[in-house]
Amino acid sequence: MNIFVTGGAGYIGSHTVLQLLREGHDVVVLDNLSNSSKESLERVARLANKEAKLYIGDILDKELLDKICSENHFDCCIHFAGLKAVGESVAKPWEYYNNNITGTLNLLSALRDHDMKNIIFSSSATVYGDPETIPITEQCPKGVCTNPYGWTKSMIEQILMDMAKADSEWNIVILRYFNPIGADESGIIGENPRGIPNNLMPYVTQVAVGRLEKLGVFGNDYDTPDGTGVRDYIHVSDLADGHIKALKKITDNAGLCVYNLGTGKGVSVLELVKSFEKANGITIPYEIKARRPGDIAVCYADASKAKEELGWEAKRDIVDMCRDSWNWQSKNPEGYA
Ligand code: NAD
Ligand code: UD1
Repeated sequence: MNIFVTGGAGYIGSHTVLQLLREGHDVVVLDNLSNSSKESLERVARLANKEAKLYIGDILDKELLDKICSENHFDCCIHFAGLKAVGESVAKPWEYYNNNITGTLNLLSALRDHDMKNIIFSSSATVYGDPETIPITEQCPKGVCTNPYGWTKSMIEQILMDMAKADSEWNIVILRYFNPIGADESGIIGENPRGIPNNLMPYVTQVAVGRLEKLGVFGNDYDTPDGTGVRDYIHVSDLADGHIKALKKITDNAGLCVYNLGTGKGVSVLELVKSFEKANGITIPYEIKARRPGDIAVCYADASKAKEELGWEAKRDIVDMCRDSWNWQSKNPEGYA
């Protein structure tokens, strides 16, 4: 198939492009490189022995979207492009709503104009807010998001649901990711956050590599077995496989479908630190700090719907994730820089 990947130079995008190329698909990427570099796709090309075609540009640029959709026929679009830093979204709400929502509306308009109404969208477990039930099924109602980033995901989901309702020619798969970590097992591509990482695993790997002194654990007084926050960490390569499986759903003309992509297992902050230490033989110094505002105690998926309907389930465990995160970071102490 010919696949249009927005945001394909980024963390999850680059791993998915790699899988797509390995599976024999042709790939066209659009990325403005605002949070990535061309280097990721150059490395993907080396790993896959095949190149994705790259347009450097913005989903806010309607003319460019029209040009790309005129020059190519796509069987499906996988839409990763978006801003994703929670704290930054609180400080710059307009930029987040404009980039993520206006950008998505532009993309949907170009796809519709060119009669290419198949799209897979990167959503997030953040749309559940503080979930009513654990493990979280897709039936769990969407909740109150604690930041503009989360609202952009929730609002885009609503837009997609309304569009699918109004026009049955759309085939839409909404994938709600839990907490992606890890890297391709080669250690050649991986996560490359700008500045001091907000998320747990890149913080841990930067402590391990000596770029940061010690990890702050945000709260040990949650109602969890060891008091620290519990999340569903999922290997980025398993997540990439989930997109490949979702393509099948698109070609089945299934209308709109929503899936959780997680392992179904909750892991606490301290368990993750211990797993990392054991997998890699490195000690991670840490100190307990105050809770981070907006954090919830527990969040993990019921991923059985994706297993039943997509034939997808996560294959890699927390040890694989810790080993591959460190393999990437240790081989690339400064990321792609
Ligand atoms: P990322 O920042 O590494 O990748 C996003 C890519 O989109 C980047 O390469 C960036 O340059 C590009 N981009 C941003 N705005 C753009 C625009 N206006 N036009 C063109 N390109 C643009 O992030 P990621 O972790 O790979 O996330 C991919 C998607 O998955 C995002 O939509 C994100 O919100 C979503 N998601 C990520 C996580 C996570 O923890 N990483 C969790 C849930 C959902
Ligand atoms: C964050 C985002 C969420 C996004 C998700 C997936 C916030 C508030 N939420 O969720 O919108 O969908 O990433 O990428 O940022 N932790 C520490 N010390 C750290 C960093 C994190 O103890 O330095 C703890 C957190 O309190 C949490 C766990 O580690 O319990 C995971 O945190 P993180 O990696 O930031 O992900 P989420 O908070 O789940």
